[in-house]
Amino acid sequence: MTHHKEIKITLQPIGLEISVRPGTPLMDVLHEYGVEFPCGGKGICGSCRIRLINGSVPVTQKHMSVLAGLGLSGDMRLACMSAPDSDVTIEIPQLETVILADNSPFEFEPQPGYGIAIDLGTTTLVAQLLDLSSGRVVNVVTARNPQGKYGSDIMSRIEFALQKDNAEILMHLIRDKIREMIYNLISGYRENLNKIILVGNTAMHHLFCGLNVKPLSFYPFESPNLGIQIFSPSDLGLELDKSTEIAFMPSIGSFVGSDILAGIFATRLHLSDSYQVLIDLGTNGEIVAGNRERIICASTAAGPAFEGARITMGMTASTGAISSVSADGEKFLCHVIGNTVSAGICGSGIIDVMSVFLENKLMNDFGDFFPEREKIYIDSNVFINQKDIREVQLAKAAIASGLEILYKQLGIDRDKIDNLYIAGGFGNFINIANSLKIGLLDLPEQRIRKMGNTALIGAKIFLFTNPGMIDQVLKLIRHISLETDPEFQELYIQNMMFRKNEKSK
Ligand code: FES
Repeated sequence: MTHHKEIKITLQPIGLEISVRPGTPLMDVLHEYGVEFPCGGKGICGSCRIRLINGSVPVTQKHMSVLAGLGLSGDMRLACMSAPDSDVTIEIPQLETVILADNSPFEFEPQPGYGIAIDLGTTTLVAQLLDLSSGRVVNVVTARNPQGKYGSDIMSRIEFALQKDNAEILMHLIRDKIREMIYNLISGYRENLNKIILVGNTAMHHLFCGLNVKPLSFYPFESPNLGIQIFSPSDLGLELDKSTEIAFMPSIGSFVGSDILAGIFATRLHLSDSYQVLIDLGTNGEIVAGNRERIICASTAAGPAFEGARITMGMTASTGAISSVSADGEKFLCHVIGNTVSAGICGSGIIDVMSVFLENKLMNDFGDFFPEREKIYIDSNVFINQKDIREVQLAKAAIASGLEILYKQLGIDRDKIDNLYIAGGFGNFINIANSLKIGLLDLPEQRIRKMGNTALIGAKIFLFTNPGMIDQVLKLIRHISLETDPEFQELYIQNMMFRKNEKSK
């Protein structure tokens, strides 16, 4: 095996040093630390701009003209178009204030001291330390969820937790990891840490808080413990001032957690006069639709395919995953996260592959290989087989039908939707045009926006939000079960077809 020399990227103002392979796109690495790419790397929004402090980043002709178009010059670059091949130090203005998808800074009441926002995901954990007087991010740490060795998706983790004392094992694993992350974040700021906010899906909430996960494992999947959980530092074995407030935010339903509540705050869906939609394609495939008057949400069980879990060579959007695919004649062109050898394919890559298969008539609208065959290799290591296509059909049908049910319950037509926000681990990489082509989404492209990590953005907003306001929003939200809707089955079957809808094209 050949070993490539790694280069160092130093991120300011937080001073974090990361090692990557030369030529790794910054977009591949920075989103893990909470940096958002609102236009998905198209060079339109300018939100991902960085300042080059040391070293150099090769600049293409296209990058130069985009910079000029955005009025950026000198040492400014766009992270979404940069792939350094030697050591660099960059300053990331986005970490200076809490940024929302529409590029307006979040309005907050400055407070003294520091706060920590934690997105406790099934796969990854991200924690940011904020200066509450300025909203500035002063430190970031990321880690894998150590519970991962006991099951990659929620259901297998719950199944494991239900045996013997395993729930306790999982609780200690995650608490130990979060404690370690907090200590890493606060060296130097310990005195002034006032608040810690955690968000996550309901299973993560229960496992972290030591609540019984049994109700999450059988019909009607109703847990009595969805509310906010408050801890003192000593409850979690943290040596911090005892006045430090620690809260795991409330879940909306058994499969719609505080990560989605955070997403509602991040997109300001609850403040909007017009109708908005939020889709999180991670884990449960949660969908939310509504406005300032009423909000309806559901989970769709579509997530595992887009998280790679049910795809033969599927994996999460991490180093080694094929995250995008296009075709040049007979040849597939793949982008691998981290500029390395491919080890599998993640959700955004899977959506692209389906679109490429359709375009190139390698598959028909029913999802059958054409001509019939077992699998297709998209590079020398990674293939897609017929069963994988069926999984994608099930997942995309679940999302598309779920959305139709939400519109119906709100009594609106999809044309009334102003913006559809995509959150989730691979939100940054997803190709919107391709998700329209395969019928996963069904709105004009200009109304669809990528939001990156809405859970983390929302957790930061919660640091500044009074609990009464969060309760009011919770009261606006109605959680529904899609399967009990009489039309769901029929819609589901219709939506299994690729290219059902012509209007969005
Ligand atoms: S310009 Fe929008 S993400 Fe880079």
